[in-house]
Amino acid sequence: MSEPTFQNILFDESEGIATLTINRPKSLNALDATTLKEISAALDIVKGAPDRIKALIITGSGEKAFVAGADIGAMHALNAIEARELSRLAHEAFGKIERLQQITIAAVNGYALGGGTELASSCDIRYASTKAKFGQPEVTLGVIPGFGGTQRLTRLVGRGKAKEMIASGAMIDAKEAYRIGLVEEVAEPDELMVKTRDLAKKIMANGPIAVGMAKYVIDRGADLPLDLAIDFETQLWGETFATEDQTEGMNAFLEKRKASFTGK
Ligand code: CAA
Repeated sequence: MSEPTFQNILFDESEGIATLTINRPKSLNALDATTLKEISAALDIVKGAPDRIKALIITGSGEKAFVAGADIGAMHALNAIEARELSRLAHEAFGKIERLQQITIAAVNGYALGGGTELASSCDIRYASTKAKFGQPEVTLGVIPGFGGTQRLTRLVGRGKAKEMIASGAMIDAKEAYRIGLVEEVAEPDELMVKTRDLAKKIMANGPIAVGMAKYVIDRGADLPLDLAIDFETQLWGETFATEDQTEGMNAFLEKRKASFTGK
């Protein structure tokens, strides 16, 4: 089957890393329905190629923005049903990011507002440039976050911080985002992609089944009572001993050599 062509995103693969770049610089990479559908289609490619694609980086094109939110021009005249449909499209795409076996890293290169912070929050890890700005300014437009912000931001930074950000609509800079645990690393703009790719490469050197399972149990376990979550971890830990990667990883350690994982 031939792979789709895209208008509003760029999709590139190199060294086993896929990079999905939101590419509407004239509107600061705002998300409209077409862009959300294209993100979804690109994620299907990543999902279908775990042997070829070991990690995914999501970023924005241009110097200024990661994603400045949902496209206000395309959204302002929507009725309630149409608005719900747009939210559903975003949830479909962002949910796919979370469910990928591969680790996803947001390289936040500039404004990440509204849907931008929501897109970044759906990724497993966030690296930000010193120029990045985060915020959920929806209430300044008379609406609430609709692409997951009330839930994912809250789970990342806690209820008080999420309420402070969402109810004030105020922006925070990369340093503050790092302080509150919204991003894991801050880099100079010209080093952002290098550092993000370095992290992806470190992750890719590890057993892919183990990485995917760790992501899965962290995410699925987070909303369970601790005793159930621990049981869940125990089950999956046991399952890793049924993989060739476990044999290879432990033999390599004992034989004092570098492991060569096959994802089996
Ligand atoms: N939707 C559509 N167009 C947008 C946009 C958006 N979210 N953000 C920026 N743009 C457009 C601007 O309209 C402008 O277009 P023109 O050149 O045609 O006038 C262009 O991008 C450049 O923007 P500015 O001139 O405003 O640039 P600036 O440097 O002065 O300001 C900014 C940058 C602070 C990011 C400002 O553009 C801004 O506040 N943008 C809107 C941010 C926002 O409110 N996002 C939330 C949207 S709602 C949402 O996301 C709901 C949800 O939960 C999903």
